[in-house]
Amino acid sequence: MHVLVVYESLWGNTEQVARAVADKLGSVGTVDVVDSDAAPITVDGYDLLVVGGPTHAFSMTRAATRAEAVKSQSALHEPARGIREWLNLLGRPSAAIPAIAFDTRVDKPRMPGSAAKAAKHELRSMGFGTTVKQETFRVHGYEGPLLDGELERASAWADEVIAALGLGSRADR
Ligand SMILES: Cc1cc2nc3c(=O)[nH]c(=O)nc-3n(C[C@H](O)[C@H](O)[C@H](O)COP(=O)(O)O)c2cc1C
Repeated sequence: MHVLVVYESLWGNTEQVARAVADKLGSVGTVDVVDSDAAPITVDGYDLLVVGGPTHAFSMTRAATRAEAVKSQSALHEPARGIREWLNLLGRPSAAIPAIAFDTRVDKPRMPGSAAKAAKHELRSMGFGTTVKQETFRVHGYEGPLLDGELERASAWADEVIAALGLGSRADR
């Protein structure tokens, strides 16, 4: 079992969730966790793809929203390539391997729109298996931190993914 976790993160909140999910998935296989700027543009050799990014303007980030985050909100990191652009570069999977998506979003005010939903839609149209529902994790303000308990929830979500996809323990493989 070989898992690729690709994340985008301007303040580090989505990265923390990605790493919590990756830690849990490590119980069923080998996990590579990579920033969307550095992620491979093929999933050849992987059995599961996890994609996570922050919601900006009701969807996946764009160059303009990332630049705005740095200029007006003092974001710590400006990805050159967010998950939207990475997905555009990513080749179609040779087999319909499963893919799951998550996002981080501001807690208050609650706004419609989700980067995870948009990513999942894209993944489905590319031919990935997208039976597992996307998940959202909440941050305080734009910069975070994550709400208390969100990393534990990320871990629990990864457990649900393991169960839903019927992924056995590493010892079974
Ligand atoms: C330009 C911009 C637009 C945003 N738009 C939304 C939005 O539409 N809905 C939402 O819930 N959060 C929105 N946010 C908050 C981000 O989701 C939040 O900054 C992100 O979850 C932090 O994660 P990160 O540290 O991984 O970047 C926006 C943030 C920025 C900077």
